[in-house]
Amino acid sequence: MIDLVNVTKSYGKGLPAVNHANLHVDRGEFVFVVGESGSGKTTLIKLLMKELDATSGMITVSGERLERMKHRRVAKYRRKLGVVFQDFRLLKDRNVYENVAFAQRVIGRPTRVIRKRVPEILQEVGLAGKYRSFPRELSGGEQQRVALARALVNRPDILLADEPTGNLDPRTSEEIMELLEQINQRGTTVLVVTHNRDIVNAMKKRVVTMHEGVIVSDEKEGEYHEAQYDLVHPEAGI
Ligand SMILES: Nc1ncnc2c1ncn2[C@@H]1O[C@H](COP(=O)(O)OP(=O)(O)OP(=O)(O)O)[C@@H](O)[C@H]1O
Ligand SMILES: [Mg+2]
Repeated sequence: MIDLVNVTKSYGKGLPAVNHANLHVDRGEFVFVVGESGSGKTTLIKLLMKELDATSGMITVSGERLERMKHRRVAKYRRKLGVVFQDFRLLKDRNVYENVAFAQRVIGRPTRVIRKRVPEILQEVGLAGKYRSFPRELSGGEQQRVALARALVNRPDILLADEPTGNLDPRTSEEIMELLEQINQRGTTVLVVTHNRDIVNAMKKRVVTMHEGVIVSDEKEGEYHEAQYDLVHPEAGI
């Protein structure tokens, strides 16, 4: 579903933000991406979204080779992805229903499809009762649920989440992560960037750790590593 071969992204001088990364994610997997601030996690997400182009290497997502993709194809490619961020990015002047319906309108779905699909997805994220509320009337966790509904309404192959619980308290963070796990169990491939050590350690998922742009570990049922530096220290053999 996701395949990176020797991918490097440099913004300019200095160390590349992503440095010779190799990563393979199968359909239906759930993957955490962790690493200290500046280690390249968001850059990785932007490469997958084709918001950035790799400096070198090969990226394939959902059967599409990103470096070869024509500009006019990009918008359609992004429909295969659902993306959520730390800051929710909802339309403030639209209610919950409209925030989610909007994602269907822009791709030209007929109104009768939207009327059926939006309540369905709001139900899935646990927000069926709030469809008329505006973002300011919702808690942070509820706002993130709306963002998730919007990301998922067009049934993407992959959900990319960049610190989705970064603005949420521990209890709400757990609920959102549980929701991501349910979304994954219904078949969507999920990749989550997070600093939330407790949740990563509790969920026993695959954990990819980045350090200074390098993927320094990739473990099944992994843990959030504290001492990333040791992993790339010459004495550690890397
Ligand atoms: N637009 C940019 N121009 C130049 N350098 C950038 C740009 N965006 C990111 N960088 C640099 O690339 C490196 C990786 O940044 P990135 O945002 O991917 O890190 P991150 O792992 O997401 O960090 P955080 O956990 O703080 O969000 C950092 O050194 C950062 O300063
Ligand atoms: Mg980031």
